[in-house]
Amino acid sequence: MTGASGVLGWSLCRFLSREGFEVIGTYNINGPDLSGVRFEQVALEDEPSVLALLKKVRPTAVVHAAAMTSPDDCEREPERCLAVNVTATRVILENCPAAVPVLLTSTDLVFDGLKGLYSEEDSPSPVNHYGRSKVMAENAVFERSNSVVLRIAKLYSNGSPFHPCFTTWMEDRFERDEEVRLFEDQFRSPIWVGDVARAVARVLTQGIRASLYHLGGPDRLSRLEFGRAFAEVFGYDERLIRPIRSQEAGLVLRGSDCSLRSDLFYRDYGFVPSSLSEGLRALKEGLS
Ligand SMILES: NC(=O)c1ccc[n+]([C@@H]2O[C@H](COP(=O)([O-])OP(=O)(O)OC[C@H]3O[C@@H](n4cnc5c(N)ncnc54)[C@H](OP(=O)(O)O)[C@@H]3O)[C@@H](O)[C@H]2O)c1
Repeated sequence: MTGASGVLGWSLCRFLSREGFEVIGTYNINGPDLSGVRFEQVALEDEPSVLALLKKVRPTAVVHAAAMTSPDDCEREPERCLAVNVTATRVILENCPAAVPVLLTSTDLVFDGLKGLYSEEDSPSPVNHYGRSKVMAENAVFERSNSVVLRIAKLYSNGSPFHPCFTTWMEDRFERDEEVRLFEDQFRSPIWVGDVARAVARVLTQGIRASLYHLGGPDRLSRLEFGRAFAEVFGYDERLIRPIRSQEAGLVLRGSDCSLRSDLFYRDYGFVPSSLSEGLRALKEGLS
């Protein structure tokens, strides 16, 4: 499990180890501590170290979730972004024996957001360097059999001890009675991190059935709508929320409507995703 100290990797490690998987998690600078999980440090851009780690660990399956995930950082450091997100993915794919399944976590930001409710049939059309790097990593996965891309929608989670999630950011602001500025023009299919963990476990136990799946929650909603639902479930004062448009934020361009259709995954793996209210309640109870 690469990226074990990250938002997704942390929850995946916890869930998979509780499910009885023997989990070895990698990190770069933030060394996590989680009972039942063994951790290894590796810098993905250091190819000899990646190769040495694969040789040492000899994984029976690889979930590759480590990445440079901030679109703004990727735009500032395009070469590092390519080394971490693309070259390292190729190194892992090419150096795992054919019998070892490799799962790559990708993103809804491979789309330009002009259409929304994208299915696996839609061609990627990234608008920023992060999205382009993930498309290149996906293409490397498609060249190898026994591999799958899980294109994940915006996650909501309790974050990891090292990396916050946008939900933890909202929580902090509500707790301090500070204004919570939320985009009214950014639509996603938010998915609870516990559902992604269950989904990854299904793929690991049932096997890879196709090379690409979308994995989002069942609802399409704006960040603003999500924030209002979050405030209601957590009992925060909705009046702190201020709707804004993405242009006002001065961030690197992200697609407006990158919502995903995930029916294929739900059908192939008999998967029933949590509704938004179930996911938010689980988040409040701190489940993973
Ligand atoms: N979060 C979301 O909403 C979301 C949505 C769609 C798709 N995804 C995908 O899900 C995956 C995980 O995302 P995330 O949000 O959990 O990421 P994150 O919280 O930003 O964590 C990134 C992880 O990658 C590791 N990493 C970063 N650079 C590295 C390097 N040079 N060498 C080795 N490890 C490195 C980090 O290790 P350190 O902590 O040690 O630096 C950390 O474990 C990514 O593939 C992302 O594209 C996430």
